[in-house]
Amino acid sequence: MALRGLNDTYTLNNGVKIPVVGFGTWQTPDGEVAEKSVLAALNSGYRHIDTAAAYGNEESVGRAIKKSGIRRDELFVTTKLWNSDHGYENTKKAIDTSLMKLGLDYLDLYLIHWPNPVAMRDNWAELNSESWQAMEEAQKAGKIRAIGVSNFRKHHLDALLENADVIPAVNQIYLNPSDLESDVRKENDKYQILSEAYSPLGTGDLLGNELVNKLAQEHGKSPAQILIRWSLEHGFLPLPKSVHEEYIKANGQVFDFSLSADEMKLLDGLEGKGNSALDPDQANF
Ligand SMILES: NC(=O)c1ccc[n+]([C@@H]2O[C@H](COP(=O)([O-])OP(=O)(O)OC[C@H]3O[C@@H](n4cnc5c(N)ncnc54)[C@H](OP(=O)(O)O)[C@@H]3O)[C@@H](O)[C@H]2O)c1
Repeated sequence: MALRGLNDTYTLNNGVKIPVVGFGTWQTPDGEVAEKSVLAALNSGYRHIDTAAAYGNEESVGRAIKKSGIRRDELFVTTKLWNSDHGYENTKKAIDTSLMKLGLDYLDLYLIHWPNPVAMRDNWAELNSESWQAMEEAQKAGKIRAIGVSNFRKHHLDALLENADVIPAVNQIYLNPSDLESDVRKENDKYQILSEAYSPLGTGDLLGNELVNKLAQEHGKSPAQILIRWSLEHGFLPLPKSVHEEYIKANGQVFDFSLSADEMKLLDGLEGKGNSALDPDQANF
């Protein structure tokens, strides 16, 4: 399918449509910076915002949404369950708190942020299932349109699916040319779980890469645009983040060029050349 713009959508495994690029907000300070950058994204045509309770900026995101004047049904808003809020009752509360902070009646997507936080290393499978049950109920109640996971590997997904009624719609993972996450993507594909690509620019690390810069020059594009286009060419959903208006705008302008099969192969060859995903079973938080 030829993609034409930020308004284009993928269809999730439950039929919900999701705009193909999301605007990232991790490490975007709460207050004016978050509000201004989200507003800049919305004014530049992004219709999909990715935040999380842990980013501490849901209220600013909510204010930007309100200020934009864009109709709620034209927007797609994702937030995530933080590690300290797992379990059935806590998850129900966390969903309501995020809704309140964002100033929204419903979320488009709600994700379990990490599968195996330090505090639940002994009973992660059980707690994920409890949290998931609360998320399924919130979805049934109309508070969330789609539910999913983040940083899940095969064993986390398998454990969740044992007791789940709803298959996750999304798995949001660290995904860029330096880490192709083939094993996780294989599992995602098996269940038609969309692979969302977080850190599509390697949190900035890949922007100085020689090959990425060479391709950028050849296409008359920026290194960031090459990396975002690479993600789209693979059928992933990239979530680029910036707090600079010119970068925000440019990162959305990735629909007027494409990468050839040979160029994609070269970029795929960067695996291991930069950072890779954190092991969720070893992360120290
Ligand atoms: N689920 C998870 O566990 C998880 C984890 C990490 C990230 N995420 C999501 O994925 C989003 C993106 O990942 P990320 O924040 O790690 O980083 P990223 O989007 O890979 O890279 C962002 C960095 O690149 C810089 N940048 C952006 N566009 C640029 C451009 N055109 N030219 C030069 N520099 C540019 C930004 O700088 P400035 O901001 O200073 O412009 C920032 O330092 C997050 O914001 C978050 O929404 C999710």
